Amino acid sequence: MSTSSLLSLRSGTAVLRLFGARRGGKGALSCGLSVPARHYIIDMSYSAHFMDYRGTSIPGSMKKLVVTKLSPHFREAVSVQTVAVPTPGNEELLVRNRFVGINASDINYSAGRYDPTVKPPFDAGFEGIGEVVGLGLRASSEYTIGDTVAYFRNGAFAEYTVVPAKESVRIPLVKPEFLTLLVSGATAYIALKRLGDLTKGETVLVTAAAGGTGQFAVQFAKQAGCHVIGTCSSNEKAGFLKSIGCDRPINYKVENLSETLRKEYPKGIDVVYESVGGSTLELAVNCLAKKGRLIVIGFISGYQSASGIPAFKGATLPVKLLQKSASMRGFFLPHFLSDYGEALAKMMQLMAKGKLVCEVDCGDLVEEGRFSGLESVFRAVDYMYAGKNLGKVVVEVAPAAQSTSKL
Ligand SMILES: NC(=O)c1ccc[n+]([C@@H]2O[C@H](COP(=O)([O-])OP(=O)(O)OC[C@H]3O[C@@H](n4cnc5c(N)ncnc54)[C@H](OP(=O)(O)O)[C@@H]3O)[C@@H](O)[C@H]2O)c1
Repeated sequence: MSTSSLLSLRSGTAVLRLFGARRGGKGALSCGLSVPARHYIIDMSYSAHFMDYRGTSIPGSMKKLVVTKLSPHFREAVSVQTVAVPTPGNEELLVRNRFVGINASDINYSAGRYDPTVKPPFDAGFEGIGEVVGLGLRASSEYTIGDTVAYFRNGAFAEYTVVPAKESVRIPLVKPEFLTLLVSGATAYIALKRLGDLTKGETVLVTAAAGGTGQFAVQFAKQAGCHVIGTCSSNEKAGFLKSIGCDRPINYKVENLSETLRKEYPKGIDVVYESVGGSTLELAVNCLAKKGRLIVIGFISGYQSASGIPAFKGATLPVKLLQKSASMRGFFLPHFLSDYGEALAKMMQLMAKGKLVCEVDCGDLVEEGRFSGLESVFRAVDYMYAGKNLGKVVVEVAPAAQSTSKL
């Protein structure tokens, strides 16, 4: 995912900015614009340490996760490296990451599937939230030390990340719930709005419904007045789905999904928000109603394979679509950035009003313990791929800053 193409939301105003920058590039730098002069409010060039507003010491070095070998097996592809804490440029923020989000596509990215021309090493991780601990002069016109921000940009799996100020989203406080909106929530909101054509009373099927993006698809479809069916792999997830308004959670480990849908929804499903692929996609195509719409959100069942693509019997697909005047539509978030500002603003409003559940899973119930510290990203990716997560998988990279200031 080209996470260099982003939006900024400041002072409650949605401002959209498109960059089209290259992976690994830094905002304006990689847009082919002139390199801004580097002036720093805090000059770190002569010192291994500097003090932020609370007097918290920023170390000279930090850990980050780097893709050193292309592979869909995250542990094989990615290694922990110790590097110098980066220096923010004129228009940039140095963000101390507090929480980072895990996405199913972290392994597509580590396999080099987003941009086959880019070779390792490159930084991993799509999204983070944290505190501004350093910034360039121009960035200081809008931000200051101690501001809390979220961002959707490559290189999030690090203790500190440099983020162009204009690609940052101001958030009122560092709560992991905000992290659920940047990719997962935005995907559900925009995909259903642009491609779902939802009408009140229609039937919507969401696969991987209790996961990061699925939980939002369930809620937005419900808010549109639809009858919502959600698939999941445990009774605990089914209970969660009920709690967020899903009319018919189906635990496919105990109920036969195909039979249940055929029996309970003989007229078929109007809209499918489909994330699993392979046999689940086949099943979903088969249960589409007349004029049904199937949105291809992902195909996670194939991501761990060498090709990344699950087996799909597609020879009869045109016949099935034609016979029902149905359609299949692909959705990829970076292609819908013109909708991103509105989506984020709307979701933040809903969240503030308590009208949107943003379930976060930091692995608190995992035997090895909570996903805490950068290295636990590896465990968190495994956890997601074992289908254990309920809500958005989030890693707490660092605890809240403790003030050591004597000022
Ligand atoms: N198109 C876009 O722009 C976009 C953006 C964000 C996400 N996505 C897609 O949305 C889907 C969900 O991503 P996410 O990051 O939100 O993950 P997630 O839903 O939080 O976690 C993945 C879930 O998928 C389910 N699953 C079903 N079959 C699986 C399999 N064979 N292996 C592993 N998990 C399986 C599991 O839930 P159950 O065990 O309950 O089935 C698992 O908890 C992915 O396909 C991803 O690529 C697409």
